[in-house]
Amino acid sequence: MGGKPLWSGRFSEGMDPDTLGFTTSIGVDRWLAFHDAMGSIAHAKMLGECGIIPAGDAEAIVGGLREIAKEIMDGAFEPGDEVEDIHSAIEVALTERIGPVGGKLHTARSRNDQVATDLKMYATDAVLDVMSSLVELIAALTEKASEHAGDVMPGFTHLQHAQPVTLGHHLMAHAFRLESDLNMFMSMMPMLSVCPLGSAALAGTTFPIDREMTSDALGFVEPSQNSMHAVADRDFVLEALHRMSMTMLHLSSLSEELVLWSSPEFGFVEIADAYSTGSSIMPQKKNPDIAELIRGRSGAVAGNMLSMTMTVKGLPLTYNRDMQEDKKPLLESFSVTVGCLEMAAAMISTCEFDVERMKSVSEDGFLNATDLADYLVTKGVPFREAHGIVGAIVRECIERKCRIEDLPLDALRKHSESIGKDVFDILPVEKCVERRNSFGGTSPESVRAQIEYMESSVELGRAYVDDAVSEREALWEALLG
Ligand code: ARG
Repeated sequence: MGGKPLWSGRFSEGMDPDTLGFTTSIGVDRWLAFHDAMGSIAHAKMLGECGIIPAGDAEAIVGGLREIAKEIMDGAFEPGDEVEDIHSAIEVALTERIGPVGGKLHTARSRNDQVATDLKMYATDAVLDVMSSLVELIAALTEKASEHAGDVMPGFTHLQHAQPVTLGHHLMAHAFRLESDLNMFMSMMPMLSVCPLGSAALAGTTFPIDREMTSDALGFVEPSQNSMHAVADRDFVLEALHRMSMTMLHLSSLSEELVLWSSPEFGFVEIADAYSTGSSIMPQKKNPDIAELIRGRSGAVAGNMLSMTMTVKGLPLTYNRDMQEDKKPLLESFSVTVGCLEMAAAMISTCEFDVERMKSVSEDGFLNATDLADYLVTKGVPFREAHGIVGAIVRECIERKCRIEDLPLDALRKHSESIGKDVFDILPVEKCVERRNSFGGTSPESVRAQIEYMESSVELGRAYVDDAVSEREALWEALLG
């Protein structure tokens, strides 16, 4: 395959091989082959049905494209490196197969609308993939949280001991972050559902095409209303990159905690052997490389978002070749994000938390100081005053190297007459978490409510993705005949 470019008529001399090497996008857009073939089948059928090309020609084109599509699905379609892009490769392969009638396929369309359409279809499938992996990570976190709904650990601000929380609550915090990502990806669907095909380079076409027909056949909701906007629009690429960056930031934060928590200084968690690595020199080492790689790769996705932003900045309408540079960052980011989500889910499902250690460290560091201040408030002391009293108690504990609950009652009463014997009922850390039963709080009961909510969210997410995927598979089957 190869030969002259599709546009060679106007040129008297051929392209320098280096120019082809410099301009080709086949290295990345070969991944759009399947969607490109689907788009072409829908377009050819429409041309035939609208009487723009003879029905017999449309049939021959669709037949040839279906063979090519099957080869693409079997991994047998090899465009080679000497073509300009996947759109040319498929058109050339078609003409090689069915003869010059293959040249009728490109009536009333251009590669500008093809590339925008292919990329949107690809992005729709890829967003569904990301959503599916997100749902499974949320499910893994929720399941772990339900095993640890009542286990106490230190809650941190500034990475300093703040208040006791439940491990279930902490894990659910990650689940909620990711659920918000899931909703953000779902809300991308409207922008992915506007079909650019038939914009015909930039200005529309003189042929009586039926854009509703191609839009429906390819699973879009409607054809785009402005052909210039349609071919120049890469907002969906930026949006997908932005949303993936956000998800990767969330994964990076989760990974950072796994790295910290698996260190001997924390000793909160043991990552399973299957998701750890060793050292070539230090025989004792077990390293959290998977978590570190996820944290590291979040940088590449954020970088891709910035690179795409800079690529489209200041482009005049409509298509400019700069836009070819959209595919690498987008495709790479999808693959990195899905890979990281899958590894994070596997790591979370298989890790073991040391709940004894988590509880014992939460008994140090005065995590119950706020509870003592709240206790004083219930005895009528204004919160600001209570804060000062407890601060002084903590100072005394630091001097005496003890915990608040180790001070005898009379020592506590020297700080405030409002403190009674019942103070010892509220100081144990399990009591602190149990009593934080406000909506969204850390109590085991509240965590169970969060889990119940998230379990139904996971079910809804799975159903949404499954339905969308089967709808899309039905579309491809119809086009493949
Ligand atoms: N390879 C091109 C891209 O990815 C396809 C569109 C080419 N259009 C053009 N006018 N050169 O953007």
